Amino acid sequence: MIPNQNYRQLQENYLFSEVARRAAAYRKAHPERELLHMGIGDVTLPLCGAVVDALKQAAEEMGKPETFRGYGPEQGYAFLREAVKGYYAGRGVELDVDEIFISDGAKSDLGNILDLLDRENTVCIPDPVYPVYVDTNLMDGRKIVFAAATEANGFLPLPDDSLAADVIYLCSPNNPTGAVYRRDQLQRWVDYANERRALILFDAAYEAFIQDPELPRSIFEINGARTCAVEFCSLSKTAGFTGTRCGYTVVPEELCFGGMRFQKMWLRRQATKFNGVSYLVQRGAQAVFTPEGQRQVKENLAYYRRNAAVIMQALEELGVWYTGGKNSPYLWLRCPGGKPSWDFFDCLLHTAGIVGTPGSGFGRNGEHYFRLTAFSSRANTEKAMERLKALQAAL
Ligand code: MLT
Repeated sequence: MIPNQNYRQLQENYLFSEVARRAAAYRKAHPERELLHMGIGDVTLPLCGAVVDALKQAAEEMGKPETFRGYGPEQGYAFLREAVKGYYAGRGVELDVDEIFISDGAKSDLGNILDLLDRENTVCIPDPVYPVYVDTNLMDGRKIVFAAATEANGFLPLPDDSLAADVIYLCSPNNPTGAVYRRDQLQRWVDYANERRALILFDAAYEAFIQDPELPRSIFEINGARTCAVEFCSLSKTAGFTGTRCGYTVVPEELCFGGMRFQKMWLRRQATKFNGVSYLVQRGAQAVFTPEGQRQVKENLAYYRRNAAVIMQALEELGVWYTGGKNSPYLWLRCPGGKPSWDFFDCLLHTAGIVGTPGSGFGRNGEHYFRLTAFSSRANTEKAMERLKALQAAL
């Protein structure tokens, strides 16, 4: 047996596993110290009432012979796909239910979609960005070119004539920088992709955090996107589903490369390798899109936004440069004193008991930056910011 040699190209640990490993080692050495977790973007508020009621009701159904369900449709139940269709229609984006695929989250689909792509494709990935795009392509041995996301371009790289890419990843609002593409900027990517016959993989996992009505929340708000883009979205951050697991991927009917229809390929792939998301979870997810569910999840989003405001205020008081936080749950700051990201991570962990995420873990251009999340509890967020302010002299 010859193992996949491409795994030799990967870092020893996935970024968030490494953060957790270092935090656990510190906790073991200092069990008396309270750690404040502002690292991985994991939600802290419980599922909203509408979702819990739907889950309970679905559990009851599963316990009765007349309403019990076995295997569900691989693409997801029609009731949930209709709900997602309605969610998009509310923002003026018309989709067909057959273009919507229910999954156990955006991360899985972002990795799994690569089954549909030849390994010879060149992939363009912003730097810094969510590390899953790089790692999953390295696992396949695909050539990667990076699009530099820097302070100079507002962390929003755009295509130029020198770029030769077959596949383009975009994440907006961006993880980790919080930067959000404007319509005209996304239009440039869509035009590039249509001219070059390239594919855009658009990660919209944080769309619900956009407050500015002028900013696009879906690539399908952009003219021409239906012939070049796939969109990935998730209820993890929108509705607290990080542990419950449910997302959706939109593959437009028009999307076709080399005479092969992408929607058909994805259905074939899913039908073969995936048995769908549980009935219970899909009923819970459906509840997110009801008027009551929307009202409740928006309250939770407002809570996280207030956390972001607490962090922003502390950084301003400290005179630390940062971006993000307004249309995103992430704050992206320059490491004080020009420290390398992992040094600042260790400094915060050891001196303040705060666990953040080093910017360099998101790519080379993330070096000397640091990410804090607004997903912690209010009490933890406030305590972390008080500890940060007390560190002022060291910063
Ligand atoms: C993050 O912290 O970047 C996210 O929680 C990772 C994820 O969604 O998989």
